[in-house]
Order: sequence, then C-alpha cells, then structure tokens
Amino acid sequence: MFSIKKNLINFIKKIVFKHSNLGKPNFQYNLEPEQLSEIIISLKKVKNIKGCICEIGVARGMTTRFICEHLVNSSEDTSFYCIDTFSSFESGDIDYEIKNRNKNKSDIEAFKYNDFKKWKENFKNFKFVKPIKADAKKFDFNKITPIKLAIVDVDLYLPTIAVLDKIKDCMSKGGIVIVDDVKKNEKWDGAHQAFHEFVKKNSLSYRLVGQKCGVIEF
Ligand SMILES: C[S@@+](CC[C@H](N)C(=O)[O-])C[C@H]1O[C@@H](n2cnc3c(N)ncnc32)[C@H](O)[C@@H]1O
Repeated sequence: MFSIKKNLINFIKKIVFKHSNLGKPNFQYNLEPEQLSEIIISLKKVKNIKGCICEIGVARGMTTRFICEHLVNSSEDTSFYCIDTFSSFESGDIDYEIKNRNKNKSDIEAFKYNDFKKWKENFKNFKFVKPIKADAKKFDFNKITPIKLAIVDVDLYLPTIAVLDKIKDCMSKGGIVIVDDVKKNEKWDGAHQAFHEFVKKNSLSYRLVGQKCGVIEF
C-alpha cells in the first residue's frame, strides 16, 4: 500500500515537472553569486575576531537566511543584527533621490510588503538573529559595537552615507564592510555615490567585487 502511494506521488511529480514550470529553478537572491561568495569568504576571515555581524537593509531576508545557514553549519557563536525599517524606504530618503538625484518615485518604490512581526517569526529558530526595526540613519551603532562584518544594502544615497559614517568607528580591527549596489547609472546608484564619497573622504582602500559590490577592510 505504502509503495503504491509512493509510486503515485513520484508519477505526479514527474508529470508536474515535465508539463509545468513549478520545478523550474530560479535565482531568488538580490545579491550576485560573487557577492554571496564574498560574504562567506569574509565570514571566514573575521571568524576569530571579536564582534558582531550586521546586515543593514534585509528586505524579506534572503541574504539573512543564507548567512544563517553558514553560521549554523560552521557552529559560529556570534550575534547577527538585522536592521531595517521593515516598511520600505523613509520618505525623506526617497524625496532626496527625486529632488537631487534625478530619480522617478515609481522606479524607486519597493519593499512595502514587509512586516516586522512576520519577519521575526520567520527567523525565530535562529536565536543568534537580532532583528531591529529602525531608520538606519538614526540607529545608534555604538549599542552593537564592535562590528566585525557589516553588509550595507539600503540602496539610496542618504541612508548609505549615514550608515557608513556611523559604523566607521564601530568596526573591529580587521573588520569588513560590504556595500551592495556600488554601480553607476542604476536606479540604486545612490549607494554607489555614497560608497565612493565615503572611501575618498576617509582615504580608505577598497575592492570592487563582481558588478556591484564594494568591500572595505579595516
Ligand atoms: C535591497 S533591500 C535589502 C536586500 C537584502 N539585503 C537581501 O540581500 O536580500 C533594501 C532594504 O533596505 C531597507 N531600507 C532602506 N532605507 C532604510 C533606512 N533608512 N533604514 C532602514 N532600512 C532601510 C528597505 O526597507 C529594504 O528592505
């Protein structure tokens, strides 16, 4: 009886795979494979450094989940702070892009679906994940100092430059900052402008990885 049921399920799976797109693999990450790989390399580099990990701008948590998998597999004992408004961009940050950076409101409106309660519930089994609902521009990063790895992915100019300015003095020696969307002539190129202004004004060396990832090692 059990084997008839199993054979039937396998037969249905075969039909569904062949005649629909339900089994078609897709790439659901916001980050490129090279960026994901850079995150793992960075996690290994900072493994024995004192400090926490933080991702600023988490959206629904695809990269967060990817990092959680690695932290569990490598039995790392660290706090992983996940900071977001969990309700999309701040209106002042969008207005700045429209008034000063020539962007269209409709192009840069996104992530409104998010919900803090549901997000926390989705990550409740990862005890080391510490979700924080805040405007990253106003968050006091001294509360989570020292930071050994920061992933900054808030897309627009104002939050990116504010976060970089704030975390600079909170980084552990040997700590790493990874910034997404360091790419010109894109709708999220506010992050590109902020990254380059930041490294220039602080005379920091940096690397570019893949098509849109900036890396600074402290
Ligand atoms: C591109 S998504 C992050 C994607 C995520 N890192 C990933 O790889 O899956 C950008 C996120 O930044 C958040 N964000 C934008 N401005 C912010 C601000 N001022 N403070 C906190 N979060 C902000 C948005 O709510 C959104 O969830």
